Amino acid sequence: MTSSNESAAGIAHVYRGTFVHATYHTAVEILEDRLLGVDTEGKVCHRRKFSIHFNFVVIVVCSEFFMPGMVDTHIHASQYSYAGTALDLPLLQWLNMYTFPVEACYKDLEFARNVYTHVVKRTLRNGTTTACYFATIHTDASLLLGQIANDFGQRALVGKVCMDTNNFIPHYKETPEESEGETKRFIGELLKKKYPLVRPVVTPRFAPSCSAALLGHLGEIAQNNDLHIQSHISETKEEVKLVKELFPDYDSYTDVYHRHNLLTDKTVMAHGCHLTDGELKLFRETGASIAHCPNSNISLCSGMLDVRRVLNHKVKLGLGTDVAGGYSPSMLDAVRRTMDTSKALTIQDTQYNTLTFEEVFRLATLGGSQGGRLVWKGGGGGGEVEGLLSPSLNQYINDQIHDDL
Ligand code: GUN
Ligand code: FE
Repeated sequence: MTSSNESAAGIAHVYRGTFVHATYHTAVEILEDRLLGVDTEGKVCHRRKFSIHFNFVVIVVCSEFFMPGMVDTHIHASQYSYAGTALDLPLLQWLNMYTFPVEACYKDLEFARNVYTHVVKRTLRNGTTTACYFATIHTDASLLLGQIANDFGQRALVGKVCMDTNNFIPHYKETPEESEGETKRFIGELLKKKYPLVRPVVTPRFAPSCSAALLGHLGEIAQNNDLHIQSHISETKEEVKLVKELFPDYDSYTDVYHRHNLLTDKTVMAHGCHLTDGELKLFRETGASIAHCPNSNISLCSGMLDVRRVLNHKVKLGLGTDVAGGYSPSMLDAVRRTMDTSKALTIQDTQYNTLTFEEVFRLATLGGSQGGRLVWKGGGGGGEVEGLLSPSLNQYINDQIHDDL
């Protein structure tokens, strides 16, 4: 735990009980019989071991514990409507057959409002206090997602999806000019709303959906406005091969993003199952991070990310659900699936250094907030015990964690 303000001024709630959290030094730290004060802005402002007098309610939680909110570093809010279905095709065919036709429906704002409300409520109930969302190409529906996340008290990075290439469903794409213009409008409008919990994130869908010109525009927008960036990378071997064909003059898939200024310390790239050592080195050098989405990787038969190798390269890594490539919106599922993949790698190689449960807990909380610097000053989010301090804390405690609907 970090600094503690011993003054009771501004404290709105005090919680007493066992606190379980992750730090950079200790994967899981258990603090028994502690007090934790939360100020009126939802930030931890007081921590003590011994009981002292406060004039307000102390919540005692016996046989239960407090933990930081979890950070979903990669989730498609727009795909929540079909989560748990349509997992019988590999990635590129799955996008064409199921994903693009559904995402095209978000032109309809009422459709968008319904699904986005459900996904925000569901992920909050499951303990996700910060989410890195992909919306769709539709600016107004993407703005609505930002409003809904803010209203329900979830910290969110929201991305209006950019794509100017789509041969299969030609009506679900933009021209490069539209994509650039609408991205600027999205960022401007979202920042104007001054939602304390929500930020825009520049979101090229992935290299196969974007021309080099569009990638260049998006890199420039992110750089000029110091914004987060999210996309997909090296999820399947077929995709890597396609990128080689589409971008023959680049050293690697990672190089495509790097040369368009899309690899920064505020970048979160999903998957990375098939990255080479050289590409991981580039991630390390630029500070870009990886969202590991094990449910999706197995469900779409994409590959198995060797998390240990990524960590050995000192590349930042968090966990993601990748709904609806992943069938569960729960970060607890992402924890379990991360363990499963690590154990599957151990079955293949008995010398493999299997991840421990404690390490995976850290990835789901602190790892997610570190990757892409997803957590900023103010309420909400994961990370060290500060992550608890979200406006959704009460909701989190009262509802417990519902892993299923
Ligand atoms: N690559 C490009 N778009 C997508 C998507 O929507 N889901 C997944 N899993 N991978 C992608
Ligand atoms: Fe994804």
